[in-house]
Amino acid sequence: MCGIIGAVSHNDIAEDLLVGLERLEYRGYDSCGVVLLQRGNLSRARTVKRVAQLRLEVAELQLGGRLGIAHTRWATHGAPVTANAHPHMSPGDDDARISIAHNGIIENHDQLRSILKKKGYVFKSETDSEIIAHLVDSLYDGDLTDAVSQAVTELRGSFAIAVVCREEPHRLVGAKHGMPLIIGIGADGNYLASDVAAMPVGVRQVVYLEDGDVADVQLREHLVTSADGRRVGRDVRPVDGNSAAVVLGPHRYYMEKEIFEQPRAVSDTLQGIDGITPELFGDHAWRAMKQVSSVLVVACGGSYHAALTAKYWIESIARLPVHVEVASEFRYRDWCADDNTLVVAVSQSGETADVLGAIHRAKSIGMTHVLAICNVATSTLVREASMSFITRAGIEIGVASTKAFTTQLVALFLLALTLAQIRGVIDDEAEGRHLTSLRHLPDAMNKVLELEPKIVEWSKHLASRENMLFLGRGVHFPIALEGALKMKEIAYIHAEGYAAGELKHGPLALVSKEMPVIAVAPNDFLLEKLKSNMHEVSARSGRLFVFADHGCGVVRSDGVDVIQLHENYGPLSPILHTIPMQLLALHCAQARGTDVDKPRNLAKSVTVE
Ligand code: G6P
Repeated sequence: MCGIIGAVSHNDIAEDLLVGLERLEYRGYDSCGVVLLQRGNLSRARTVKRVAQLRLEVAELQLGGRLGIAHTRWATHGAPVTANAHPHMSPGDDDARISIAHNGIIENHDQLRSILKKKGYVFKSETDSEIIAHLVDSLYDGDLTDAVSQAVTELRGSFAIAVVCREEPHRLVGAKHGMPLIIGIGADGNYLASDVAAMPVGVRQVVYLEDGDVADVQLREHLVTSADGRRVGRDVRPVDGNSAAVVLGPHRYYMEKEIFEQPRAVSDTLQGIDGITPELFGDHAWRAMKQVSSVLVVACGGSYHAALTAKYWIESIARLPVHVEVASEFRYRDWCADDNTLVVAVSQSGETADVLGAIHRAKSIGMTHVLAICNVATSTLVREASMSFITRAGIEIGVASTKAFTTQLVALFLLALTLAQIRGVIDDEAEGRHLTSLRHLPDAMNKVLELEPKIVEWSKHLASRENMLFLGRGVHFPIALEGALKMKEIAYIHAEGYAAGELKHGPLALVSKEMPVIAVAPNDFLLEKLKSNMHEVSARSGRLFVFADHGCGVVRSDGVDVIQLHENYGPLSPILHTIPMQLLALHCAQARGTDVDKPRNLAKSVTVE
């Protein structure tokens, strides 16, 4: 799981490659590297630090050129050390003829490595990727596209690769199977990248390669050959041009910026929605949704918590049974398929390998109505789904999802209302009331954001702890899970989210003065039950930190700290209660001095299993 960018141009491309890498760091940032064809040689710089360091090394080595490839890595095979950083070279580093950058996993790497070793190739890394460099070199006979086309037939697993050859200064070759790879068409040259966002501003058109494609990218043209060896013309599509909108502004971290952007993100997501209609999810959504008898939601990470919240909404508002499955589990499970099931895939990026695997599995067992709820209109998920709703959170850079999460919740609430309408279980008045609440949500979110100073005070106390429990009930249980996930991801504090009623079935044994308990306490019908659970904590000398709605009667006392939100916001309350969870994790992380936007070992978009 990594990011690739390559270019062939009339101009020097070093800066394009470095800027592209910065935009691809969300795919992994263990190490990065670049290779440029300079004075007839493939010259390389690599580092286990960030792109900023690579930029310094490129300047120091005075690297430049008009053909090159670059890569940012999230380690799968081999530790994040310089020797394992891409691009890899063949036959050797000093006499390199071929260089490659790879995203994905080559499953038959052991077998290919022994064959290539017998041919005399010496391996310098522990990666599965290096075999591709030697394999292409072993097959090279004067035509790089031919060599890559032959090489990919021997690879098992998933890959997107970009390849250059010292002897062909005007040619960049790409190949794709199971990982995204896109051609960018520019005025002065052409590009290959894992994501449109990595393309330089001058690229106004892109071509999405399909599995099995090999692309021969030259200065003025690109030729694509499909798996069966036919020359094919893939659609050329315009670029929507928002890739440059990644500016930190006055904020210290992207995550902080993205938390405070949420009112805007929600209002953009709701823009143009005058009423509830299946067309919100695509032209043919009504036909698919009218026959639906159950819903299956698949997702990973934070998106999975959004899906869990949606279960409560869809079951109570639309009266439809909902199953929520972790995508990596669903894709390998036996499932009683029913073609009247609406499959909903929730994903910020639309590139998460397990989510894509889950929808492939759903389709393969006959569940063909797939709705994507996604933040990236051009993503693989949206292209593969039959219906879609695009959240308008804007590009999200912080690895821990914030504005994408709350806009997913908005989209899922709209889905609950739509299914309720189609099934005739909601009247116009109730629908109108929900829509009005949605429209006021940005204002309500702004009020919650004003609580930040109080949360900063709490974080001073909490940041030194190594364990925490997060409790919630009902539709706020997934918000407790999300709070714990955020705390783990960016503050590196061991945190567990629990349905408060489960406390006495295990976690209560952990409660002591040393184990703070964070409670999500909205003023809803489960409040009294939650209060009992909080008493169970207090009775064991546990320290409670409660986010309570105004009027719920939870007050500050010995061992109980309370931050009060405003009035209860009805079914949309989980969206408001998410914000304090995000701010608490952010400020604990900041107090602990972690890398908030790029937490250790993680990546924003997990494109491998
Ligand atoms: C990674 C990210 C999470 C995200 C999850 C699912 O783990 O760090 O923030 O929730 O992937 O990603 P998706 O793009 O499918 O929502």
